[in-house]
Amino acid sequence: MQSIKIGLLGFGTVGRGAYNVLRRNQQEITRRAGRGIEVAAIAVRSAERARATVGDEVPVVTDPSQVISRDDIDIVVELIGGYEPARTLVLEAINRGKHVVTANKAMLAKHGNEIFEAARARGVMVAFEAAVAGGIPIIKALREGLTANRIEWIAGIINGTSNFILSEMRARGLPFAAVLAEAQRLGYAEADPTFDIEGIDAAHKLALLSAIAFGVPINIDAAYTEGIAKLAAEDIRYAEQLGYRIKLLGITKRTATGIELRVHPTLVPIQRLLANVEGAMNAVLVKGDAVGVTLYYGKGAGAEPTASAVVADLVDVTRMHTADPENHVPHLAFQPDHMAELPWLPIDQTVTSYYFRMRVADQPGVLADITRILADGHISIDALFQREPSEGENQTDIIMLTHDAVERDVDAAVRRIEQLPTVLAPVIRIREEELG
Ligand code: HSE
Repeated sequence: MQSIKIGLLGFGTVGRGAYNVLRRNQQEITRRAGRGIEVAAIAVRSAERARATVGDEVPVVTDPSQVISRDDIDIVVELIGGYEPARTLVLEAINRGKHVVTANKAMLAKHGNEIFEAARARGVMVAFEAAVAGGIPIIKALREGLTANRIEWIAGIINGTSNFILSEMRARGLPFAAVLAEAQRLGYAEADPTFDIEGIDAAHKLALLSAIAFGVPINIDAAYTEGIAKLAAEDIRYAEQLGYRIKLLGITKRTATGIELRVHPTLVPIQRLLANVEGAMNAVLVKGDAVGVTLYYGKGAGAEPTASAVVADLVDVTRMHTADPENHVPHLAFQPDHMAELPWLPIDQTVTSYYFRMRVADQPGVLADITRILADGHISIDALFQREPSEGENQTDIIMLTHDAVERDVDAAVRRIEQLPTVLAPVIRIREEELG
């Protein structure tokens, strides 16, 4: 059978990776897909660099429309990234009846509903395994492998840059800024590192996971996002003393009242596998009612790990190319006419436990005042210790873990605690998840 022809939009790290993997494993891939997968055109801003890799084998152009408009191209692979022109080009490809493979989490988090609706109307596939956790086949696992389950929650380390920074801060006792510079030098960070360190990149990925886990539309606007830039080395140390590691987690949960969607630094018990995921690695825990807790671990970025996901999508699309559209696996795991409309819970309705650090005057009655306020707010203390003040120092830190509490009660209690004259600085608080 004739090879299926693909057009690459973008030829950066991932594009080059996909090209190399396709060439190197061509035989194996053909045996799996049932026919060859051939790169028939590349559109890229700087044609010279791409030509240096592909030579005369593949036509390289600078105008993406020249690829999208070619009748012989079956699949358009969008690897440009960002919101625009990626969205417009993907919609153009769909309108021309092309299948699309994309690694673009930001575009899908924001415009995914529009893109999937256009693809459904046109009867084409849009595959996006590479958009979440790089080489880990988490989309496939959720959409197909776990399809028997009612998914209860997902908790994942889905941004390698921030995990690398937290790991290095803990292991080497380095401040945040020094480690960020190193992450950028190693090429982990997004073009705009605020997307990594402020949790935005993780929120994009989490919004996609949430949609396919619960059968709801993608809703990035519902995500609560808090990054790691303000995290102090001492909190990482104190958490360790209490038996926890701090990880930037993306968490989405189905509760009795709605869906939680949140990204924030989180204390995780050291004995959990997730707490021991170090460096730029990614890992995703999924709790299904039938299967229990499952864990997916691997590289979340990089040329060939991400290419592994892109090529897997190419094989999937190739296998389904001639199938009737109604037999395609639904883009968001659930049939489009069976999507649920569940409420999204604001962060102040989240129920979780907390770590507090309070800088206080070292004098009688301080702890009694604080615990009274917590008791009034129905917040129960799980563990507590006080740092030994240094010689001559008249202030100290109180470190506390709470049992589960509603965030709005915690907000109110913290406001009252911060008004005490003996509490000398804003209360530091970090959410905690047992992930049992
Ligand atoms: N900047 C991302 C990360 C890369 O650090 O995980 C892949 O999305």
